[in-house]
Amino acid sequence: MRRDIITALDAGSSRISVTMAEIRADRQLHIIGAASVPAAGMKKGVVVDIEAAAQAMAGAATRCQRMAGAPIGRVAVSLSGSHVASFNNRALVSVARPGQEVGPDDVHRAMEAARVVNLPGDRELVHVLPRQFLVDGYDGIRDPVGMMGNRLEVEAHMVTASGSAIQNLLKAVLRAGLEADQVILASLAAAESTLTQAERENGAVLADIGAGTTDVAVFEDGSPSLTFVLPVGSDHITSDLAMGLRIPLSEAERLKLEYGLLPGRQPGDGVLFELPSAGSGEHREVTPSLLLDIVEPRVHELLNLMLTEVRRSGLTRRLPGGLVLTGGGARLAGLDVWASREMGIPVRVGEPESLAGLSEAVQGPEHAAAVGLVRLALARRSRASAAVAASAESGGFGLMARLKDWFRELF
Ligand SMILES: Nc1ncnc2c1ncn2[C@@H]1O[C@H](COP(=O)(O)OP(=O)(O)OP(=O)(O)O)[C@@H](O)[C@H]1O
Ligand SMILES: [Mg+2]
Repeated sequence: MRRDIITALDAGSSRISVTMAEIRADRQLHIIGAASVPAAGMKKGVVVDIEAAAQAMAGAATRCQRMAGAPIGRVAVSLSGSHVASFNNRALVSVARPGQEVGPDDVHRAMEAARVVNLPGDRELVHVLPRQFLVDGYDGIRDPVGMMGNRLEVEAHMVTASGSAIQNLLKAVLRAGLEADQVILASLAAAESTLTQAERENGAVLADIGAGTTDVAVFEDGSPSLTFVLPVGSDHITSDLAMGLRIPLSEAERLKLEYGLLPGRQPGDGVLFELPSAGSGEHREVTPSLLLDIVEPRVHELLNLMLTEVRRSGLTRRLPGGLVLTGGGARLAGLDVWASREMGIPVRVGEPESLAGLSEAVQGPEHAAAVGLVRLALARRSRASAAVAASAESGGFGLMARLKDWFRELF
């Protein structure tokens, strides 16, 4: 029997990972392979050297395939980079049978109408996610089918990205010998595997802090209302340490991983360790204060940039679900407690929900996007096959299945 396999490719600035999951008879996802290799040809979340990126992708894919003992099939690819932008759109259609029930076809037309936007030059639509429907002006409706009314309106979250950035990503994937069947925003993938339903409903921010980018998704009333990518990540902390202490990047990275935000300012501020000074024989002392004076401002700046962007979008309501941090950068020791104190909101590190199979291979916040990609790819693939089945059954366009599509896009 043909095995039903879902593959996710998360191409990050520092790490390229391929994750394979199998849908078994129990309809559960079983992780059957996961491999990460150091990234190449990537900068701040985008492909800058197709050939180098392709080689790294192929390397991760080969290792993952070998581990899984199964062919890789089509892959869902993560999208990142500061070219990603979002806005919320509304579209209105009149119900086909005025004064009667809203039908699936009306919902379909409303979603199609929402897609009709004038995007400048090189921009492409990546996601159109329904947030709510309004029937004759009454808002907050998740499923309008069966309601009576004349006017059906949809509010949708629209994610757009640079067409050439997407093309370069897909070119690298293709050159790696892989076939991409969907592109999914990295922050939405990370949110999928970590945010609870309550957090989505109450309002929460997901921030995936990677090496070169911070991918942000704000959720309100159960669905994303704002998504963006900042060109700043945890590698900036490393380079600040390297510059501030005049040490090599590798040494700075080691210090970051070891102390994070937790060296603790002790009374008297004892010497943490000594650094050999470049050139001269003398030693330089590194105190907890010195380390914190370098790390804190950078983390502060990152959180501040994020909040500024959220406010700029016009979002003023509170987000009691707080902040959920994923990505390797979320591992910075003490970050959750520090951020919670600085921002006065609940902050937690998001562990991807555990799946069956080799789930320990995708444990840790840096795997949140990969696990979410697998889950979203599965949801989309089931929708696609349901649509085919429904249209075959009805001889129509599979509108019922398409409708389920739109709702599942609500996450
Ligand atoms: N224990 C740790 N403490 C602090 N930082 C860490 C820790 N572990 C990993 N990191 C940092 O996390 C970053 C890598 O995270 P991740 O693997 O999520 O990035 P990426 O997906 O390759 O990059 P991006 O998403 O920005 O394109 C690196 O900057 C690394 O130094
Ligand atoms: Mg990443």
